Amino acid sequence: MYTQTVAQAKEPVRNDAMYDFLQMATGVALVLFMWAHMILVASVNLDFGGGRVMNFIANFFEATYMAQLGGPVIFLVLLFHFFMAARKFPFRAEEQKAMWTHTVRFNHMDTWLWIIQAATAFIILVLGSIHLFSVLTTLPITAARSAARIQTGWWLLLYLVLLPCIELHVGIGAYRIGVKWGWIKRSTREYFHGMENKLSFVMIGIGLITLIMFYFIVTPDPTFMAKTPIPHM
Ligand code: HEM
Repeated sequence: MYTQTVAQAKEPVRNDAMYDFLQMATGVALVLFMWAHMILVASVNLDFGGGRVMNFIANFFEATYMAQLGGPVIFLVLLFHFFMAARKFPFRAEEQKAMWTHTVRFNHMDTWLWIIQAATAFIILVLGSIHLFSVLTTLPITAARSAARIQTGWWLLLYLVLLPCIELHVGIGAYRIGVKWGWIKRSTREYFHGMENKLSFVMIGIGLITLIMFYFIVTPDPTFMAKTPIPHM
């Protein structure tokens, strides 16, 4: 009887540990990608919107096919990471109600952080997919094309929502991985959470400066918006 119960319990437990590991591994990959991505896009600020530095970097990524191949790979990793994490999401109304009641009652910082993670995950999946589709179907990437996109339709608003969501998600995600896998101890939680907050604010600040640069300073490619598959978004 005992052996049978252990045998039954063993598989799901082992699978769960593996899913958790895959969630962490894809999470770390996406955190590193996002920090690199934000800094590379911010290169447009280096020559005050002239676009020479950004175009040079974009050209390198396309000449080596890293954008053409890397883009779809990033999208698949994003999807996979979402589905791994979604195992624990409260999808049904009563689950959400129970989750909310417990969160308010516990009032523990890490539980609130988890709620932010789950909420931003949905926004990132939808808005991130729209962004990826638009960028990858209108290659090559140039500062003038990015400016044309950001200065048209709803794109600026999309980025103003996506930017804080992604930075919060990435910052909290890095902190949660540290807590969950035991690298951040109870005694150092406050310190690392403070670090994570500061880093998220710095990244949001850099992102906002970049958006201001694209919106007000960079000269847009006038022919570009006619070519994009989602022209009037
Ligand atoms: C290989 C994949 C990707 C490429 C080639 C890429 C490229 C770009 C480019 C060229 C821009 C400048 C704005 C524009 O052209 O519209 C940009 C901005 C942005 N991207 Fe991506 N992107 C990729 C993946 C992602 C992913 C997966 C996310 C999040 C889910 C993301 C979030 C953002 C955000 C928030 C901005 C605004 C940047 C800022 O405020 O500084 N990107 N991306």
